[in-house]
Amino acid sequence: MRLRYFSVNDLPAVFDLACNTLKERYSPTLFLNLRSYWPEGFIVLEEMGKIRGFVLGVMSSRTQARLLMLAVSEQARRRGLGTLLFREFHSECAKRGARYVTLEVRKSNLPAIVFYERMGFQIVGDIRRYYSDGEDAFKMHLFF
Ligand SMILES: CC(C)(COP(=O)(O)OP(=O)(O)OC[C@H]1O[C@@H](n2cnc3c(N)ncnc32)[C@H](O)[C@@H]1OP(=O)(O)O)[C@@H](O)C(=O)NCCC(=O)NCCS
Repeated sequence: MRLRYFSVNDLPAVFDLACNTLKERYSPTLFLNLRSYWPEGFIVLEEMGKIRGFVLGVMSSRTQARLLMLAVSEQARRRGLGTLLFREFHSECAKRGARYVTLEVRKSNLPAIVFYERMGFQIVGDIRRYYSDGEDAFKMHLFF
């Protein structure tokens, strides 16, 4: 098992994984654009030559990191891979001088909410109709 930075060759696998695990639809070019802002904030987890998960975030100010996507393939869940990915992301945020991480999560996505709470995040508010299908989001923060 190996954690490493995303490379352009990973795009098809990461795009597939995002389509299979996230409700929101993103264009492949979005991944490349976001990566160009902060390559160290885009990390993949590879196991036996396959991408099992990824995390993608940006620094939205000098001290604020924003986690945009985190996904682990369905067959590989509850083995600690999401935790490994998040810890690596957290460490990259710390290297960049972030003081806190923010994210949005669907109110219906209980597994992810429990996961993020386990990582130390707290719900700090909500955003009405945040997602394209009209669902509300919880806003969560993790202070370093
Ligand atoms: C959220 C997600 C990334 C977690 O990945 P994972 O590899 O399964 O997470 P881990 O194995 O590291 O879990 C760590 C802890 O989080 C909690 N957790 C994770 N999945 C959970 C679930 N389905 N139900 C309840 N708690 C859960 C548990 O406390 C777990 O510890 P435990 O297994 O010792 O009980 C994964 O479920 C996923 O990819 N979901 C679909 C995409 C998504 O919703 N991403 C987040 C929104 S961007």
